[in-house]
Amino acid sequence: MAPQCYIEEIDIQEFRGIRGLKNPIKLSKYNIIIGRNNVGKTALLEALYLLPSPYDSIRGQPLIGRHRMPLVINLHGGDWTSLIYGYSGYAKLSYKLSTNVTLEFNLSYKPEYLRVDGEEAGIDLYIDSISKCFNIKEEDVSRLTFLIPNDTLFIKDLHGRLLEVWDAIVKEGLHREIVSRLVNPVVYDKFTEILIERNQLKLRNEVGGDIGPLYITLTDLGDGVEKVTTVGLALEYFKPRVVLWDDLEVAMHPGLVRSILRWLTSRDWQVVISTHSIDVLNIFTDLGLKDGKIILLRKTSDDFIEVSSYTPMEMGDIIEKGIDIRKIIDILEL
Ligand SMILES: Nc1ncnc2c1ncn2[C@@H]1O[C@H](COP(=O)(O)OP(=O)(O)O)[C@@H](O)[C@H]1O
Ligand SMILES: [Mg+2]
Repeated sequence: MAPQCYIEEIDIQEFRGIRGLKNPIKLSKYNIIIGRNNVGKTALLEALYLLPSPYDSIRGQPLIGRHRMPLVINLHGGDWTSLIYGYSGYAKLSYKLSTNVTLEFNLSYKPEYLRVDGEEAGIDLYIDSISKCFNIKEEDVSRLTFLIPNDTLFIKDLHGRLLEVWDAIVKEGLHREIVSRLVNPVVYDKFTEILIERNQLKLRNEVGGDIGPLYITLTDLGDGVEKVTTVGLALEYFKPRVVLWDDLEVAMHPGLVRSILRWLTSRDWQVVISTHSIDVLNIFTDLGLKDGKIILLRKTSDDFIEVSSYTPMEMGDIIEKGIDIRKIIDILEL
């Protein structure tokens, strides 16, 4: 079998708060993005998310991945211009895939061009290049990337989308697999499955003794478990090839972080996670993944982004050398 395709490199100009990158960002299979507030971590994830469907429409061609651009725009007040650095001009995004194909487009009110390997191209060739690299059907290209924003409304909305495809989820056995792999390792309860009752997701709790099973509403299990369960089901069901998770630590205690990181990095998809949390960084480093990478973003005084990358082994050394946790945080500028 051909090796799994992934996004090897991204270059960004004038997108959201990113004026430009000093050098393109090279990605591995499993990546953690760290850096101070406002450096551009979220913007980087959003730029990766846009790879499969750069515009709502290009030169009158049919819509591709119609929901995609609105998700990113809606996260920023529903205004196109907030995607462009300084609110005017053009953003330019460029991606190198592991088949060595380079895809590029610019972004504004009016799209100017798409390029494949430096040559101006139509949307068909653009989509075809992605479909070939990832070995997926053209109609599945719009589902290539999956962005989990730091936004509670998104989780509620995802909940709704899962209810619509619930029969298929049960048929694949995902309603059992997610509880046993992600939830049970970190709670006292022994849950057996997720089910729908009166249009709500519930977890069946096998209580011992003379009490029969209890059906606990997912939203009563706390934000962290709700988030992990919802996102876990969605990722297993939609099967994206690139998973983008913004601020992974939000609502999660370290046990849950460990569980989700183990699961995310045991699957054959590319993962890019942003975080401010030393726990997430420690746990990721501890996994010692040979295809793991820690990417530190820093802003220069002229508003460009400078990137330093570490293997988990190098990061492990930095963490061990740290006299105390503050020192590590200072080195990493978290
Ligand atoms: N259209 C824009 N033009 C210029 N700066 C922007 C634009 N949109 C966002 N920013 C800036 O980008 C920064 C936020 O970037 P973000 O990607 O959310 O960072 P992080 O996720 O690392 O906290 C803020 O400083 C904001 O001022
Ligand atoms: Mg952010």
